[in-house]
Amino acid sequence: MNAPTSQPAVVTIFGAAGDLTKRKLMPALYNLFLDKQLPSHFLIIGVARRGDEQNFRDYIKEGMTEFSRRGAADPKKWAEFIQHVTYTVGDFTSPKTFTHLAEKIHKFEETNGQSSRIFYLSTPPAVFGLIADGLGAAGLASDKVNDRIVIEKPFGRDLESSEALNNELLKSFDEKQIYRIDHYLGKETVQNILAFRFANALYEPVWNRRYVDHVQITVSEDVGVEKRGGYYETSGALRDMVQNHLLQLLCMVAMEPLVSFDADEVRNKKVDVLKAVRPLGRMNPHDYSVRGQYGPGTKDGLAVPGYRQETGVDPKSTTETFVALKLYVDNWRWQDVPFYLRTGKRLSRKLSQIVIVFRPVPHLMFDANASESFEPNRLIINIQPDEGIILKFQAKEPGAGMRLSTVSMGFDYEGTFTSSSREAYETLLQEVISGDTTLFMRDDQERVAWNIVEPLLEAWASRPSNAFPNYSAGSWGPEAADMLLARDGRSWANPMLIPKS
Ligand code: BG6
Repeated sequence: MNAPTSQPAVVTIFGAAGDLTKRKLMPALYNLFLDKQLPSHFLIIGVARRGDEQNFRDYIKEGMTEFSRRGAADPKKWAEFIQHVTYTVGDFTSPKTFTHLAEKIHKFEETNGQSSRIFYLSTPPAVFGLIADGLGAAGLASDKVNDRIVIEKPFGRDLESSEALNNELLKSFDEKQIYRIDHYLGKETVQNILAFRFANALYEPVWNRRYVDHVQITVSEDVGVEKRGGYYETSGALRDMVQNHLLQLLCMVAMEPLVSFDADEVRNKKVDVLKAVRPLGRMNPHDYSVRGQYGPGTKDGLAVPGYRQETGVDPKSTTETFVALKLYVDNWRWQDVPFYLRTGKRLSRKLSQIVIVFRPVPHLMFDANASESFEPNRLIINIQPDEGIILKFQAKEPGAGMRLSTVSMGFDYEGTFTSSSREAYETLLQEVISGDTTLFMRDDQERVAWNIVEPLLEAWASRPSNAFPNYSAGSWGPEAADMLLARDGRSWANPMLIPKS
């Protein structure tokens, strides 16, 4: 994590009238301002096709009340902050938009000195190339250190389109100027996996195929596709969640120890993991995967629609809203240890959790009656909610004889630290402003991640499911996902809550 930089900064948000600006970007920038993590001289420029400065100010203020972790903005602080915010209406196809932007930035720099210039593309991917070209033509991409472009996912929709997009960006920007966001990498608990693994001597010796039986990664959501039916129809859970967030979590668990905390060192080690993933194309991808789509069901006792009834969704849609996968990482550390991944919308509850299930002890000397169901050790990393880590182990029950039961040792963020966890976007924006690429996806990471999911995209496209919908909203997904593990004599871990300290 970088200390706040003193170099002035200009953050330009393209697509400023959109949802992301209101929900995430502006609350994150405001919170950084409150925490004195922004340079004293900064300017935020919203660019969108419509609206005016006053509308924009009202819009983002509303966003604070609804979405900031600190709730409604304090009027005095807000008045100070809003002085740094300006708005420009502009068409991304017009060179004038970019020359006008360049003038604003130069004017700011005349008074405040050379700034780092962050161009955040919170727009549909179709215009990423157009905006990058416009910036290049206006001379806003030529400073290879200070000009930075931030791209939201989806970064393409397959290997070919992601390469094409990359080539478009590379016409104006160098790779080092491109910050591809995967917001999971900004989450405190995801970063803590590195601290847990590499700042403690205790776990590394058992972090391998000799002691680990298998790993489970669950990212479940209880919401449906909400207002994003149109986008989701072109994406599905494999592109929306697996290609990025779940594979990144896999990397954090499986990567080798780092030599240093250098951006390229971290990313090289992750690429090594992704390259070692056994290609699904070499096997029958259907044997290693399960797809699902939610039908109508209930949430908190209320009826909720199925995916095909959502706004913007084809009533005969074959888009998957659930994916379960079994992957192998073919290297010395992980050979033949299965990594089970699952993610889905409208599941029973919101939960992002990694479970490391250790092998049973080689010989159980206790009486067969000592335990009703002996459970090998498990380490549970809760990414969200109930952020924390639990170790489950066996203990003797008090009383006569030797009876065993499973007990837990837990660390919870909330009970341990007084400061509240920052939002992922706060961390990520601060890192871009500091010019640190560690938490961002490099082009080769994107490519290998697409390589992993591509055989499945092809297999599913060539055989659309005729069983959809195959799970009810509010459930834990299709039965076939349970079968994927049951075939190996395993089952999904029950979601674990962190005991409060
Ligand atoms: C986004 C996906 O990247 O991540 C969404 O596009 C999903 O579909 C979201 O809802 C989940 O993020 P989080 O932080 O709420 O787990």
